[in-house]
Amino acid sequence: MKLSYRLRLLIVLISLGVLTGGGLLLKHLLLPDSFGVYGPYRANAIAEAALVPIRHGTNASCFKCHAYEAGIHKTGRHQTISCEFCHGTYMDHVENGRKIGTLPVKREKQITTLCLRCHNTEIKARSELVIKTVAMPNHLADQNVKLTHNCNQCHHVHAPLKYIIRAKQMTRWTEAGR
Ligand code: HEC
Ligand code: HEC
Ligand code: HEC
Ligand code: HEC
Repeated sequence: MKLSYRLRLLIVLISLGVLTGGGLLLKHLLLPDSFGVYGPYRANAIAEAALVPIRHGTNASCFKCHAYEAGIHKTGRHQTISCEFCHGTYMDHVENGRKIGTLPVKREKQITTLCLRCHNTEIKARSELVIKTVAMPNHLADQNVKLTHNCNQCHHVHAPLKYIIRAKQMTRWTEAGR
């Protein structure tokens, strides 16, 4: 069957119309409501993000009730570390100024695992200048202790050089004479 020139043109035009219409409809269905209000992104995202509950309180929020830990933490080499990194979030612990839940406290071997998340020489992506690292078990062998020692047996978790500086003062320990 041979179609006339006009009929073929008509078919092409109709299919183009259907395709364009379908495309526009699809775009309408798939684009979120507020897309384009401020530019090529979803304007509602801002309001939605503001509704997400705040989980973290920062260190200042802990200091109010934990004056003892705060006093030690603020003077030591861990002063820049977030309490919540090691203990979990404010939201799980305090609501309307009162304790509502227990935060996890690591013990023994778990403490060593926690410390090595930041202080292991195996972490190659970060410079030694940012966070000092130790190789295990060499670090324990260097101190002449059993390799079963956990980090907190020598380092105060909240101010890691507290005992070590004290020990050095007491024994007049120097790099040369150790
Ligand atoms: C580097 C990780 C780390 C950071 C940072 C840290 N803590 Fe701890 N914290 C620990 C560990 C581990 C223990 C358990 C110590 C132990 O058993 O020897 C502990 C113990 C405690 C305890 C006593 C809990 C118990 O039952 O023994 C409190 C309270 C506490 N921390 C609060 C804080 C506060 C407040 C901050 C911030 C000012 C903070 N911690 C920062 C690791 C950390
Ligand atoms: C409104 C007061 C209050 C605030 C704020 C507060 N705590 Fe506590 N916290 C307590 C009380 C009360 C206890 C139980 C008695 C104790 O150990 O001193 C406690 C206990 C803890 C313990 C031991 C485990 C437990 O839950 O019993 C840890 C760890 C701890 N708090 C960490 C934190 C951290 C980290 C922050 C900041 C994000 C914080 N706290 C903020 C009141 C508070
Ligand atoms: C979230 C990462 C992080 C964790 C977890 C952590 N530290 Fe640290 N630590 C740091 C940073 C940051 C410093 C300050 C920079 C530095 O001195 O290397 C520091 C400093 C130290 C120092 C002093 C190094 C020096 O000579 O100046 C010691 C020792 C230390 N930490 C031991 C520990 C021990 C023990 C634990 C486990 C209880 C621990 N750290 C957990 C990040 C961490
Ligand atoms: C037997 C005691 C002892 C134990 C256990 C111990 N350390 Fe140490 N650590 C020391 C002493 C002492 C120094 C200081 C050495 C110096 O000043 O030359 C030190 C220094 C460090 C430093 C600083 C290194 C530097 O380059 O200046 C880091 C980081 C550290 N320790 C992390 C840890 C971690 C993490 C653990 C657990 C895996 C741990 N230590 C277990 C005694 C100990």
